[in-house]
Amino acid sequence: MDIFHIEGPVRLSGRVTVNGSKNASLPIMAATILTEGKSLLRGVPNLSDIRVFSRLLDRLGCKVAREPSGDLSIDSTVIDNPVGEYEIVCKMRASVCILGPLLGRFGTAKVSMPGGCAIGDRPVDIHLRGLRALGAKIYLENGYIVAEAPKGLTGSEIFLGGPFGSTVLGTANVMMAATLAKGTTVIDSAACEPEVVDLANCLNKMGAKISGIGSPRLTITGVSELKPVDYKVIPDRIEAGTFMVAAAITSGNLRLKNCRISDMMAVVDKLRNIGVTVESAGDAIEVAHTGSVKPADITTQPYPGFPTDLQAQFMALLSLADGNSIMIEKIFPDRFMHVAELNRMAANLRKEGPVVIVAGVEKLIAAPVMASDLRASAALVLAGLAAEGTTVVNRVYHIDRGYEKIEERLNPLGAKIQRRNI
Ligand code: EPZ
Repeated sequence: MDIFHIEGPVRLSGRVTVNGSKNASLPIMAATILTEGKSLLRGVPNLSDIRVFSRLLDRLGCKVAREPSGDLSIDSTVIDNPVGEYEIVCKMRASVCILGPLLGRFGTAKVSMPGGCAIGDRPVDIHLRGLRALGAKIYLENGYIVAEAPKGLTGSEIFLGGPFGSTVLGTANVMMAATLAKGTTVIDSAACEPEVVDLANCLNKMGAKISGIGSPRLTITGVSELKPVDYKVIPDRIEAGTFMVAAAITSGNLRLKNCRISDMMAVVDKLRNIGVTVESAGDAIEVAHTGSVKPADITTQPYPGFPTDLQAQFMALLSLADGNSIMIEKIFPDRFMHVAELNRMAANLRKEGPVVIVAGVEKLIAAPVMASDLRASAALVLAGLAAEGTTVVNRVYHIDRGYEKIEERLNPLGAKIQRRNI
């Protein structure tokens, strides 16, 4: 198992290129199974989650390969085992988004019900509600979701809102199934995340008929078949946001290449409130910070609101603010595994249900800490860059799920991170 040794405090400066989006790549990989033939996906990052998803598709019968160019090819001509197996799905919840495409193409699908998650309760009831509205019969069998529509799916008007607003992968699942349904589907309260937009654009390039993309009301006119695609995924706005916080928390100066600031306005707005400079610089985005960190209140919301996937990273930054900040988690109310770990580094955080009061401190002090999930581990690495001494982050495999060799990207910018295998 790998751990990180992180020397701090450091000051980061230089240029870094943002990778393609993990959360756009996963559903787009699933979309390729809607058709026969070989698709080519460009800019898909080399992450453990992508490798797990590739294995999932491989088990269905697809041929998945990394081309010498680094692009990902998926040949989904033969799918002889339309089953999402437990031993893969239990590793990664996003596997559930093969359900819609399999059902859409074959009229049958069997996918393991996703289990528990460190960031909180994550049911898939809305996914199933949407697929049932398209005419599928769905039941649970030995921990597997079984979905059947032997005569194919039929378009319908579906409200897909839930207790916490829209659902990203729920919208993806239902939208993909609806592309091959008879007639027209309207999804109300659809998720508007850039990753959902990227998926819809990819589907339209495959021959789907989707309109209202980027709005909470999607209209999908079913077609009889789709074709393979050559598609480049969007940059990873969460990785970009993590690098922006890295610049801020180290009073540094970074130039981010391949960064789409238009996907990150809520994040950039918050950084500017905190006193961080964020501005376009040619084909890059320059992020710089000197002086004190101003406190700020943050409430996570569905896009275009502040993303829950940057809540932990901003908590690490605001733990060094010149005053108190209030952070409210409205998407995953229990997503606070990083709070106790940051407090071990001398932060002063108090959790009250879905709210954390962040009382800013002068400095963070290095300590051994435990990563619990992807974004919490990113927050611990950022805290380690600013803390005095050597921070040891355990269970680094969490961060490898969403950041490609992060130490090899940060060390050239001035970080001192060692990966050690214990
Ligand atoms: C996606 O997860 C992302 N994952 C998550 O990123 C991200 O945190 C989340 O969207 C919110 O932005 C991927 O794209 C692979 P949701 P998803 O369905 O689709 C509730 C990361 O760090 N809900 O939008 O699973 C749910 O419990 C990951 O990269 C239901 O109640 O999230 C949550 O409270 C972590 N019933 C809320 O809706 C359902 O059927 C939003 O979840 C579905 C969801």
